[in-house]
Amino acid sequence: MDSTFLNKAAFAALLSFGAVFLSWTVAQGVIPHTEPLHPTFSVPDTEKIAIAPYMAQANAIRGADLAQQICSSCHAFVEGASDGVGPNLSGVSGRHIASAKGYAYSAALSGQNAHIWSDQALSDWLSSPARFAAGTKMSLMGISSPAQRADIIAYLHSLGDSGLPSSVSPQQGPS
Ligand code: HEC
Repeated sequence: MDSTFLNKAAFAALLSFGAVFLSWTVAQGVIPHTEPLHPTFSVPDTEKIAIAPYMAQANAIRGADLAQQICSSCHAFVEGASDGVGPNLSGVSGRHIASAKGYAYSAALSGQNAHIWSDQALSDWLSSPARFAAGTKMSLMGISSPAQRADIIAYLHSLGDSGLPSSVSPQQGPS
């Protein structure tokens, strides 16, 4: 290996280092360093979604099917039926959170008793019970589709509202 070769090698290395540095500097200048104002994507259900627009399209009959599949293993829907793993859901819409008599709620949910089960509260709850009330004993991952949540909420309305008119007769769903 003669010194000419070493010189060439050193020169080549310097040149490529220089080239990398140059392109980095140019790129820094050309590409603006901006962070998006909003995250470009969101992990499903880490954001609250306004449910009102979905309620306009909601279908209580579809909701009854979903409730039968997803909720009925833990909840009764008929007034007067005994509580299951979870409280009886008849009349839950519009009622104070964690206010069914005789049911032993978790501290996490009882802590929210001052609030009412509005459509939005029900939607937030059903999208992720654990996020709505950390430490809740309702072990449901959550329903990610807002349209499905709206259907279920429409069905819950049909089970009798505290103060709100019923749109569907209570007999139409699972019992
Ligand atoms: C694995 C059992 C289980 C399933 C499935 C389940 N729940 Fe629950 N649910 C519970 C339990 C337990 C509670 C009480 C939570 C607490 O005290 O923290 C509860 C509480 C609730 C409440 C609050 C009631 C109140 O009186 O404040 C609502 C509303 C509710 N569930 C709706 C639903 C709906 C709708 C579904 C189906 C989409 C569903 N749950 C599926 C177990 C379940």
